[in-house]
Amino acid sequence: MNQKYSKFFDSFTFKSGVTIKNRVVMAPMTTWSSNDDLTISDDEVKYYKHRVNGVGLVITGCTHVTPNGQGFTNEFAGYNDEFTPSLRKLAEAAKSGGAPAILQIFHAGNKAIPGLDAVSVSALKAEATNPFEISVETRELEHAEILSIIRDFGDTTRRAIEAGFDGVEIHGAHGFLIQNFWSPATNQRTDQWGGSLENRLRFPLAIIEEVKNVIEKHAKKPFILGYRFSPEETSKVDGLRLKDTYELIDNLVEQDLDYIHASLFDKSIKPVDSQEDKTWLELILERANGKVPVMAAGSIITPDDALKAVELGLPLVAIGHALIMNPDWVEKVENGREAEVETELDISKLDQLHIPGKLWDQIQVSPGWFNIKK
Ligand SMILES: Cc1cc2nc3c(=O)[nH]c(=O)nc-3n(C[C@H](O)[C@H](O)[C@H](O)COP(=O)(O)O)c2cc1C
Repeated sequence: MNQKYSKFFDSFTFKSGVTIKNRVVMAPMTTWSSNDDLTISDDEVKYYKHRVNGVGLVITGCTHVTPNGQGFTNEFAGYNDEFTPSLRKLAEAAKSGGAPAILQIFHAGNKAIPGLDAVSVSALKAEATNPFEISVETRELEHAEILSIIRDFGDTTRRAIEAGFDGVEIHGAHGFLIQNFWSPATNQRTDQWGGSLENRLRFPLAIIEEVKNVIEKHAKKPFILGYRFSPEETSKVDGLRLKDTYELIDNLVEQDLDYIHASLFDKSIKPVDSQEDKTWLELILERANGKVPVMAAGSIITPDDALKAVELGLPLVAIGHALIMNPDWVEKVENGREAEVETELDISKLDQLHIPGKLWDQIQVSPGWFNIKK
């Protein structure tokens, strides 16, 4: 291995006690590929098994904690005990390379797939669409339903423990339900769940508390708890800005989490309203200031991209696209074959990439999502 990359091959121990062998994390990625009954498919098992052999930690694509929280077609479910065997199958595949695996849990809110009883913090109108931005008209959640969804996050955490996962990640990013509560652009409530910063944070913090209680009660070995967020809602005039994210980070620091996870889209993006040169990543690292480990994903494609992020002080580097294009990304770097890291999706090698058919369909209808080498 080129010694300069040894920086991200150090082990890392989370607060909960779980140790990982290196700092490279498989970013959470939905595959649109469950069986039609929303159980894990053989295609998904194959997809994971080919990508988890080098990374230090695996985070699965998201699973919905209630039936109406489903955000993508053929998204594997985790909302009742009947799905525990399916989650176990996923945990086994995700852990087959020896790295611990984390189940990402979420509720899609107003980005639920059409045809469900879509709910959100407030009644919201449908917005524009792309595969990540489908949004539907929603009705406002009642107080009792909010409490029930908080328990659903806890119940899915219990299932993750029973299925053999090593942790859960609460998906508070990408404009799904948790972010709908936190964002002044979508939260129009006037009760205890809306208005002030304290009220808008009540839902995410209640979920964290519930999940922690479940971990305390059910986990028999160290169990990781992480929280994912988006730094800004750039397309919304009154949406979240980095100053709001600072408040979120300060609150998350108090929660004793194993890590916080910034979903950056691109590591070089700067805040919308900022005059300075610093990127989201640099500013988030400054704010967290070592008080909680930070993980980040966003166009980290080559090992030099990863190295730059680590040198900025990022302890945990999550990679998404690059692992789809290079199932053996880590092995290539470890064995001094970094020149072989593909930065484009090579169609001629599709049979070696083990991309589930339905994920491939999504890639084809999402121009600009991948650079495709023909
Ligand atoms: C196919 C695909 C599916 C994704 N699904 C999820 C998901 O389920 N949960 C999530 O938080 N992010 C999801 N993302 C976002 C990634 O985790 C990551 O943040 C993003 O792709 C940027 O990192 P990258 O440039 O390394 O891919 C997905 C990304 C891709 C490409």
